[in-house]
Amino acid sequence: MSTRKGIILAGGTGSRLHPITIGVSKQLLPIYDKPMIFYPLSVLMLAGIREIAVITTPQDQAQFQRTLGDGSQWGLALHYIEQPSPDGLAQAYLLAQDFLDGAPSAMVLGDNIFFGHGLPGQLAAADAITTGGTVFGYRVNDPERYGVVDFAPDGTVRSIVEKPEVAPSPYAVTGLYFLDDTASERARAVTPSPRGELEITSLLESYLADGLLTVQQMGRGYAWLDTGTHASLLDAGNFVRTLSERQGQQVGCPEEIAFQQGWITETQLEARADLFSKTDYGRYLKGLIKP
Ligand code: TTP
Repeated sequence: MSTRKGIILAGGTGSRLHPITIGVSKQLLPIYDKPMIFYPLSVLMLAGIREIAVITTPQDQAQFQRTLGDGSQWGLALHYIEQPSPDGLAQAYLLAQDFLDGAPSAMVLGDNIFFGHGLPGQLAAADAITTGGTVFGYRVNDPERYGVVDFAPDGTVRSIVEKPEVAPSPYAVTGLYFLDDTASERARAVTPSPRGELEITSLLESYLADGLLTVQQMGRGYAWLDTGTHASLLDAGNFVRTLSERQGQQVGCPEEIAFQQGWITETQLEARADLFSKTDYGRYLKGLIKP
């Protein structure tokens, strides 16, 4: 089990999904058969993290609490923190400072979906680096929309540039950050960017300046899905449906991971299955229990 604490950043305005997100948080929208936040939550659980803070807007917090509860159904301890306004990703480390209480962390954005063979191994490798930070580089067609890795000719990381006009490489930094116990302290030194946000790239630059940032590549065998627009939201749902129906295996199922990790008993798993008995999801959970 990891000594890290987890953060799921699930605030934001979701303005590219209007009018859907006027009444409901983006991270609670369905990705086929489950709420979006189940997917990033599953990633933290795969990394062996059991104590997790969910950061939301003040108005959406109650719905997240209704959806996720205190986490005990998955053997987790969930905490809820409000972000009064969407002032940037690095602000999470200021808001979560008391929660972290000096612990290293793994933060995942609430709208990021990862899928790929070998993911637990990559997460374990990042978890094992206790000094500094680890982020994941993923090749995309449209790197200008993201923080982009600028590699020196020898392959080392020169810088990370936020939404560059001309991308120095096709490698975007995904929304999953393993940072050591200095993250909150470093975040305090970050000043707002021209667009008024505390940028995660500025925080990562602080690690980079000290020679303490590792960029792990997520290869072509991985899916890192976008869910931020109407079309990409539907595509992500179809991806999950195609994969899970073909394989008969779930993607991003917290109950399954908790059971595999030994964090919940068969009786607890069965209780969840009974709760969803009218769905394939519930039948799937039932099938995980040995006859
Ligand atoms: P974005 O996709 O950059 O922003 P958004 O979700 O508000 O959407 P839009 O661009 O359509 O307005 O955010 C990435 C993730 O980070 C998303 O899960 C929301 C979250 N987020 C916060 O929780 N707080 C913040 O201050 C910001 C900037 C993002």
